[in-house]
Amino acid sequence: MTPLLDDPAVVQRILDHIDHGTTDRSADTWREPVENYRSAERFAAERDLVLRRYPTPFCPSAALPAVGSFVARAAAGTPILAVRGDEGRVHGFRNVCRHRGAQLAEGVGCKKAFACRYHGWTYALDGRLRHVPHEDGFPGLDKSTRGLIPVETVERDGLVFVTQDAPYVPDVELPDLPGLLAPTLRLIQSSELEVAANWKILMEGFLEGYHIKATHPSTFYPLQYDNLNVVETFGRNNRIAFPYRAVEKLRAFPPAQRSATAKLTYVYHLFPNAIVATFPANVFVSLLEPLAIDRTTIVTYILTDRGEDSGGESATTKRGATLVGDGAAEDRAVACAIQRGLDSGANQCFEFGRFEGAIGHFHRMLDAALDAAPRARQADQAVS
Ligand code: FES
Ligand SMILES: [Fe+2]
Repeated sequence: MTPLLDDPAVVQRILDHIDHGTTDRSADTWREPVENYRSAERFAAERDLVLRRYPTPFCPSAALPAVGSFVARAAAGTPILAVRGDEGRVHGFRNVCRHRGAQLAEGVGCKKAFACRYHGWTYALDGRLRHVPHEDGFPGLDKSTRGLIPVETVERDGLVFVTQDAPYVPDVELPDLPGLLAPTLRLIQSSELEVAANWKILMEGFLEGYHIKATHPSTFYPLQYDNLNVVETFGRNNRIAFPYRAVEKLRAFPPAQRSATAKLTYVYHLFPNAIVATFPANVFVSLLEPLAIDRTTIVTYILTDRGEDSGGESATTKRGATLVGDGAAEDRAVACAIQRGLDSGANQCFEFGRFEGAIGHFHRMLDAALDAAPRARQADQAVS
């Protein structure tokens, strides 16, 4: 059961904040050493011990609507391929040919089988090596041992989670998100954008509303409030509600009938590096994939449950998408600016205040995951 508040409770808390000029506050502030954004060792540990060893959202189910639908992209630096198999189940593999290592697919699409572009070794949707051209050149080749290498893949609540390497912490619970990504959603756009900033700096930009007026004066601020949020944590994750000014219309409704739809954006932070954000006409699923300590690819899937020819709605949808795109560019510009200043020596720590509590939770959970990894590794070695 999710411990998250239901819509009427969130709306009530927002209306109370509007009435009192307040916002949610965390119990504590958080000080994050700047060194944690600069240390190559720390970056490698985040990638190898957390991002590759926790079940991490890879793509929405809506990106894999049919048998043969696939998504191929790098996750935590590893080429990964997810594909919906003949029996409807999603399989995940290292996207690396078992001949000489080329990738078998790129981007989003649908195939009956994966033929390597280099020499044509061909793999079935379940990863079995099916065909080797001129096989007589490989005496003794046992095709049954040369299938694609699987990675642990689980589909749940409209998301596909991939765990690349055996987790140090067993039985990591997946977030409970019933109803967040409805089965009726379809993928309307996917994109990858490389940004010159550390992945955690980019993540922090999603997790507070304290910057709405200063950073987004003509995009989000005219429609939203500055520093007025409902912040909840669940497990390692966060949910932040960003109300729209239209939320005030809900005062006219009895509390039980107050739906959040089109009245606020929920930003779900799914540990460690995923964001699911709800908008009136669509849902964004964004994955922050570190390329290097100072470079990140933002992978975004945009989903909608609106019909393809919903006529008048499409202009509104387009306006909304432009606004969100412009706002996101403002966030990226700030993240790049922070990255440029990291080596300046100006700050030993970044201090996150009581309006930025979801960021403190993120760093606390990341520290805990990194602490647990060596302890679990020592315990493994003691047993063996
Ligand atoms: S590398 Fe894939 S067929 Fe040779
Ligand atoms: Fe922002």
